[in-house]
Amino acid sequence: MPKKEMSSSNWWEEKVVSRLIRYGCGSQRIMDLRSEVIPHAQGKVFELGCGAGANQALYDSTKVTSFTAIEPSSTLLEFARQAAAKKGWEAEIRSGLGENIPFPDESFDTVVCTFTMCSVLDQARSLAELRRILKPGGTFLFAEHGRSPDANIARWQERIDPLWSRLMGNCHLSRPVTAAIEKAGFSVTESARQYRDGPRIVSWMEWGSAVKPLPT
Ligand SMILES: C[S@@+](CC[C@H](N)C(=O)[O-])C[C@H]1O[C@@H](n2cnc3c(N)ncnc32)[C@H](O)[C@@H]1O
Repeated sequence: MPKKEMSSSNWWEEKVVSRLIRYGCGSQRIMDLRSEVIPHAQGKVFELGCGAGANQALYDSTKVTSFTAIEPSSTLLEFARQAAAKKGWEAEIRSGLGENIPFPDESFDTVVCTFTMCSVLDQARSLAELRRILKPGGTFLFAEHGRSPDANIARWQERIDPLWSRLMGNCHLSRPVTAAIEKAGFSVTESARQYRDGPRIVSWMEWGSAVKPLPT
């Protein structure tokens, strides 16, 4: 979109939120959490909402045969392509939304979603799309912040969400993570959850892996 046609919300997201994501999502504490998950990716890998491409440094190039990602923000797309150039690998990183992933059924061995389930327009539909493009028996790797198990904190997350999501590129604090993944038909094989550093309202994390069951 030419600069003069950019709406104020688009301007805020492309110029401000994209940079907050680049620096916040690249912080050491978040990279430590990613490093527990991302090195398990293998084969043909798809990443949803790759942001500035922070995960790319952690993929094991000896196990990943191809890397494909989609991301709706043009600023973040550019950063993610720079991350691919820095890693020195061939990567297909294109514009797209989780609600309508532009790849055929059962195309990937591993699908990856980190800190994106909070921000998609429709969480259930995006999870259904991830399941659709994953081969049966394939792995879903995830690391997300989400809904606190403490009712009092969760209530505050719900109260803050309307303002937070407007300021932070549709990020929601109160969305479930592992429960939503199971509801979408994945079998969770490994999962961890705990408050990490920072205020409890934003620091509840769930991460691990799930599989798409083989047909019976
Ligand atoms: C907090 S950032 C996380 C970025 C990246 N996944 C990471 O781990 O650093 C949330 C990301 O979700 C992306 N996003 C928002 N809505 C989306 C949608 N409907 N489909 C796919 N990605 C989306 C944003 O553009 C942003 O890159």
